[in-house]
Amino acid sequence: MQFTFSAAFFALVLAAAAVPTKRAACSNGRTAAHASCCVWFDVLDDIQENLFDGGECGEEVHESLRLTFHDAIGFSPALFFEGKFGGLGADGSIMAHSDVETLFPANNGIDDIVDAQRPFAIAHKVSFGDFIQFAGAVGVSNCAGAPRLEFLAGRLNFSIASPPGLVPDPFDPVDKIVARFADAGFAPNEIVDLLASHTIAAQDHVDPTIPGTPFDSTPSIFDAQFFVETLLVGQTFPGNGSNQGEVVSPLAGEFRLQSDFAIARDPRMACEWQSFIANHGTMTTKFRAAMSKMATLGQIRELLTDCSDVIPVPPTITTKPFLPAGKTLIDVEVACHASPFPTLTAQSGPATSIPPVPPS
Ligand code: HEM
Ligand SMILES: *[C@@H]1O[C@H](CO)[C@@H](O)[C@H](O)[C@H]1NC(C)=O
Ligand SMILES: *[C@@H]1O[C@H](CO)[C@@H](O)[C@H](O)[C@H]1NC(C)=O
Repeated sequence: MQFTFSAAFFALVLAAAAVPTKRAACSNGRTAAHASCCVWFDVLDDIQENLFDGGECGEEVHESLRLTFHDAIGFSPALFFEGKFGGLGADGSIMAHSDVETLFPANNGIDDIVDAQRPFAIAHKVSFGDFIQFAGAVGVSNCAGAPRLEFLAGRLNFSIASPPGLVPDPFDPVDKIVARFADAGFAPNEIVDLLASHTIAAQDHVDPTIPGTPFDSTPSIFDAQFFVETLLVGQTFPGNGSNQGEVVSPLAGEFRLQSDFAIARDPRMACEWQSFIANHGTMTTKFRAAMSKMATLGQIRELLTDCSDVIPVPPTITTKPFLPAGKTLIDVEVACHASPFPTLTAQSGPATSIPPVPPS
């Protein structure tokens, strides 16, 4: 009896394990866990070709990643408890109410990518909130070394314009930035995790005379160079002198935001910052987790469908962070005293000068 029962039970378990999980058939022979995810393969094909110039990690990808943040951070429980509307986070409000939100100073220049993305969202009949997070996740997958981000679909296509003042400015004091992120639900270390995004980033509007000036020497690679180079002693401005939110940078052609400079040296965040230099895997894992949280601010995760299997697998990298040519360890402003600064190989050759990210 005992034997028969366990044998039958065992057979059942085996049979259950053998049943293949039924996946939905989508276009071009691709499959997804849920049939409702299939539409995203069509969006994928379209934006890779027509928004990201054939799958590049270029300007539109950088702008699309920035947009995921500027839509999502329009979320404030603190305002809500004061009886004011604080926005529902990653809800597409920056696209639906671009006439209001793109006028906020902290959203300077974001109108370009909002206007570039909107026709794709409308053509594929997907919600603005979903589209913005999807484009960010696909865009990041074009950057070598990046994690494959999560993508959940199903945000409503309804939103109310976010109030001003919720998107951090690069000239905000660190305490103000930390408080703003805390209101949205992020711990100080998670700010650092999210700022890995600035490894594939450039500025256009802080100094409008030098558009495309990147924050590190490798703006199309999701490496830890940003975390190294922000710790180097600053020397000069890459363009037309000091602008609000800008501080001196260590390399010709490189731009340094005051906020990145200050966060890298803040005792609450300096060790998280430094830790990513020696550990690419930790950087990408934590960035992925923080992005997952950001993409669902104000949303109910349980009501969304996991369509992550539509996101392409990013190319990997084998390169290690380095000291740019012309720099030595003396130039590093070590700010984490709990662990030793990692060993870096020094790049040889003439002093590094970084070309701007080309506009497309
Ligand atoms: C401490 C908070 C942050 C501040 C003060 C800040 C500030 C800025 C500024 C001033 C720019 C330059 C914009 C321009 O002139 O065109 C920029 C670019 C960018 N930011 Fe941030 N940022 C913050 C956090 C984030 C986060 C959390 C993300 C995404 C997860 C992000 C992604 C980007 C990207 C990808 C760019 C490059 C855009 C491009 O190359 O066109 N930033 N950021
Ligand atoms: C979403 O709302 C916008 C207006 O804010 C509209 O233009 C768009 O067609 C809507 N998309 C869907 C899928 O309903
Ligand atoms: C450069 O900065 C100066 C002030 O420092 C300003 O008068 C000038 O208009 C700026 N040039 C450009 C091209 O923006």
